[in-house]
Amino acid sequence: MSKISIKPDDHVFVLTGAGISAESGLPTFRASDGLWAGASVEDVCTPEAWQRNPWRVWEFYAERRAAGALAQPNPAHVALAELEAKLGSHFFLCTQNVDDLHERAGSRRLLHMHGELSKAHCERDCGRPPVEDRAIYQSLAEVGRCPCGGRLRPHIVFFGEIPLEMERIEEEIAKATLMVVVGTSGSVYPAAGFVHWARQYGARTVYVGPEPPLNAAAFTNVVEGNAGEALPGLFV
Ligand code: APR
Ligand code: ZN
Repeated sequence: MSKISIKPDDHVFVLTGAGISAESGLPTFRASDGLWAGASVEDVCTPEAWQRNPWRVWEFYAERRAAGALAQPNPAHVALAELEAKLGSHFFLCTQNVDDLHERAGSRRLLHMHGELSKAHCERDCGRPPVEDRAIYQSLAEVGRCPCGGRLRPHIVFFGEIPLEMERIEEEIAKATLMVVVGTSGSVYPAAGFVHWARQYGARTVYVGPEPPLNAAAFTNVVEGNAGEALPGLFV
């Protein structure tokens, strides 16, 4: 099986997508039985959807909270947490995922660029930060309000909104000598463009997943396989 060598002065930037949580039993988005086969983006993941029918949005994310609470980190999440423990400040993880499986596997040096299921934020721009919220709501009446009176919405970056912490992401990519991308189809920007940024900085770029992503040509090498089998023991 191929190995990825990491030198002492390497800085490793890892980007993960829904595929890394697939072996934990969580659905991906674009598989034939994926999340976007069962619900339409226009109904559950746009600012217009929220304005039109906030309960339909909460219903979708309450279901994903329930599924996420039952899921367990898989060996791929553990392998990345172990790599972080070894590399310390030379490691950075950016996930597109909104589940907390990376944290539950032990990852700490990470950020969620598309938000987090375990949080909610005010629907108004009142400036208050997101709040912890793991409730599995059964009706809109149960959903809390911000002290400003605004209704709480899932702390999820909807399509058409700007991903979180892009400055930090750009700083970390500028430092990277190795970018490892795991389990993402390369369908959504800016995340799908990170590999091109890394190449411009001269980094090696590796993709890990069972099928080539849309941006496969940008990777210096591809490790074909499921993350839970391919990641453990991959880094030497
Ligand atoms: N191990 C690794 N990769 C896997 C596995 C696995 N066991 N199973 C599936 N995959 C791969 C698929 O081959 C696919 O390339 O995971 C990828 C999942 O792609 P998508 O469903 O498009 O999910 P993702 O790329 O994370 O979507 C990006 O789109 O809908 C938005 O905000 C949402 O963050 C999400 C973004
Ligand atoms: Zn508010």
